[in-house]
Amino acid sequence: MSTTETSNTANRPSGTTPAGTAYAEAARDHLWMHFTRQSTYEPKDSGGAGASVPIIVKGEGAYIWDDKGRKYLDALAGLFVVQVGHGREELAEAAAKQARELAFFPLWSYAHPRAIELAERLAADAPGDLNRVFFTTGGGEAVESAWKLAKQYFKLTGKPGKYKVISRNIAYHGTPHGALSITSIPFAKEPFEPLVPGAVKVPNTNLYRAPEHLREDPEAFGRYAADRIAEAIEFEGPDTVAAVFLEPVQNSGGCFPPPPGYFARVREICDEYDVLLVSDEVICSFGRIGSMFASTDFGYQPDIITVAKGMTSGYSPIGAMIASDRLFEPFKHGHTMFPHGYTFGGHPVSAAVAMANLDIFEREGLNQHVKDNAPGFRATLNKLLDLPLVGDVRGEGYFYGIELVKDKTTRETFDDDESERLLRGFLSKALFDAGLYCRADDRGDPVIQLAPPLIIGQPEFDDIEQRLRSVLTEAENHL
Ligand SMILES: Cc1ncc(COP(=O)(O)O)c(C=O)c1O
Repeated sequence: MSTTETSNTANRPSGTTPAGTAYAEAARDHLWMHFTRQSTYEPKDSGGAGASVPIIVKGEGAYIWDDKGRKYLDALAGLFVVQVGHGREELAEAAAKQARELAFFPLWSYAHPRAIELAERLAADAPGDLNRVFFTTGGGEAVESAWKLAKQYFKLTGKPGKYKVISRNIAYHGTPHGALSITSIPFAKEPFEPLVPGAVKVPNTNLYRAPEHLREDPEAFGRYAADRIAEAIEFEGPDTVAAVFLEPVQNSGGCFPPPPGYFARVREICDEYDVLLVSDEVICSFGRIGSMFASTDFGYQPDIITVAKGMTSGYSPIGAMIASDRLFEPFKHGHTMFPHGYTFGGHPVSAAVAMANLDIFEREGLNQHVKDNAPGFRATLNKLLDLPLVGDVRGEGYFYGIELVKDKTTRETFDDDESERLLRGFLSKALFDAGLYCRADDRGDPVIQLAPPLIIGQPEFDDIEQRLRSVLTEAENHL
């Protein structure tokens, strides 16, 4: 579809903004893109790479189109977001209906029906006694809220020294200062240091890069990785540690699932030291792994779950921190309050869209669809292991990482220059040119990441595999 077909461009020349500028030009000159090297789009004569900003104008099901009319398979669901697929009329309708009825009201001492309904629904689906929902506008705010709650909870219950948090190497938990401290990606943190004190790091669960003697024994590796958390708590002092933040499947680094027994051991450690277990499910909830909450998929009980992305399938922004009855208890009394909030947290339009989105999940049995089809997805991607460049395929549900290596036998990875040439110099563009929108990432070792809408099945798995195969085969010539 060309941009002239969109409703707000009816009387304009093709591909121009209301000011009459070409979109790519206006984007280059005025849009500050997130986590983006803007020089990619600066003209060559001013030192840039002279590329044109990719502009996506339409989505339908698992597909997106750019402003030149080219179609792409959206193998990343936008950014781990569009669970039910693009172009769902009923979600647009739910938003419009709510905007007409009550476009905005805050949750500051007042409530509105959609936030109440959604809180009740999330509490019903959340494991155990996670019954209290604090809404935010996104995932980073949910993580930020969880750390603040952990600190205040311990102050209110007689353990005021407990303020530190533990998280894992290379994990991403968002960009607000607290969440960024929990994040463990050096390049994203360094420009903003000093960050919030008290954020400690432990090893992640990358089995492919596990200490050599543990690589063939996932259970022993799980025990080893979990025990590093106990070690960190002991080292910091149990009276100083408030919470541990873990994703069910760690995204950054390329989809590290938990080894067997890992979360059972983490739960034991948290109980032993009175440390809260925060399950950061900003990516892994809402069917990404197969259940509403991935802690259910892996059978552990968190004290807090943080969510965002898939809750509305991206049709409107919202996030939440879901806390246990135990954590809420001290806030029920006297003058005590959680002095924290966001103007747009639990926005009525977003809450209405989330309700309609979860209706689609139920009506179409999306979680069961993921459970039924995930083995096929994995098996199809595993075929890529015959390529010299593909070292590892890992993940769960509809969430996979493909690690690229220089030498499969030794598992040797690429150095920074090679990785730059491979990922930025070739793969990112080549994948897009091949009609596949996904992510080539080197926050850890180089990986390609896939997290498609939950509606796809075997034909799209085959399509993804074939497009990846042809691009990764060609990549051999660009090392
Ligand atoms: C695990 C996790 N936590 C937190 C965040 C931050 O979410 P947001 O970008 O909505 O602030 C992300 C974003 O990708 C995430 O993957």
